[in-house]
Amino acid sequence: MYHLARLSLITLSCLALLATRAAADELDEVVGDIPAPATEAPTAARSTQFAPVELTFANYRTEVMLVALAVGLVANYFYGSQANAALSKAWERPIAEVLRQNFSLVGDGTRVLEWDSAADMLFYASGRRHCKFAQGHLMLKARQDALALLNDLAANNQERLEVEVALNDDEAKGFVFAAVPRKRSKALSRDRYDIATFAKAVSSDKVPQRMVLLSEHADVTSQLLDCGLSEKLAGDDALLEELIISDSPAEKPDSHDFKREKKLTAVIRLPQLSDANLQRFRETLAFVFYMVDFVCEGIALRPETVRKLGKARDDAFKEFARMAEHEKQEALAKTLAEKRRIELEEVGKMSPEQRRKWEEKDRKRQLKKEQGKRVRRVR
Ligand SMILES: *[C@@H]1O[C@H](CO)[C@@H](O)[C@H](O)[C@H]1NC(C)=O
Repeated sequence: MYHLARLSLITLSCLALLATRAAADELDEVVGDIPAPATEAPTAARSTQFAPVELTFANYRTEVMLVALAVGLVANYFYGSQANAALSKAWERPIAEVLRQNFSLVGDGTRVLEWDSAADMLFYASGRRHCKFAQGHLMLKARQDALALLNDLAANNQERLEVEVALNDDEAKGFVFAAVPRKRSKALSRDRYDIATFAKAVSSDKVPQRMVLLSEHADVTSQLLDCGLSEKLAGDDALLEELIISDSPAEKPDSHDFKREKKLTAVIRLPQLSDANLQRFRETLAFVFYMVDFVCEGIALRPETVRKLGKARDDAFKEFARMAEHEKQEALAKTLAEKRRIELEEVGKMSPEQRRKWEEKDRKRQLKKEQGKRVRRVR
């Protein structure tokens, strides 16, 4: 519905724009007539000015074209929505199958894919070992929206399924690993805090040239590739386009008590519809969930690997430990200042004699504090 509204809005603004132009053109013609000498039969001039415009295509060209454009856009909306509905039905079947075999709760119990727009469908599933939930986003071409479609074509946007699985934090091993298309790897290792902090690009002859591995440790890399990942990435027509496993935040945290979540995300490309491709798609999606099991129970990292991963996190998050310490100090200083303020207020109400005594005591107290500080510094 949102897209229909947007479409009509665009059409309306186009109409308004062109109508103003047409009106301006007509006004030009009228104004152009005025300099005609007034002495020369003014009544005749007036009568030509207001003569009805003949109903020919030439006179209404702008209007006709606008109406045609509006009709075209509306027709495209309905045609494109229908085409996407048919496509999403075709892709829903393998998605539903794999989800139902892996999760006890899929969608709202009846439908699996929920329409967010005519080109975006979402799914949600929960109730599976080793993970809290999985959510997905099926992204089709915006066939219903001519402008967005042009944009898709220009950006070379592929139709795809994005899947995100929230892993059980106490079961998944803590590391960062990404297998991504070469053209995305620079942006990812620049923009994602976890990848930038922990992973480095590593070369491997087990993945095709178009892919880049960003990993922390050779132990992790080799075990993941050998569990079936390298086959799923092999070949120019591989459907698995991207796989990221991470135990750290994608964005740099701004406080020390940031959420530590473990996540597995995957991007699966949608190929041409065919039985063979649907089967490959089903296998690829099932593989993503198999990876969930592998990361939680299959992978057997060497003790020194685990130690190294742990140390990398301690080092990286030192800054946040310092932040926590700093916050504690600040809170303490604030309470002390507040106590002093109240004390001074009370001193203000004292008699001069009492105040003199208090000032004496306070001076001694400050002196002691200063000395304490100096001794500590010397040590
Ligand atoms: C997940 O689905 C795949 C294929 O649909 C199936 O082979 C596999 O056993 C399922 N995994 C679990 C843990 O149920």
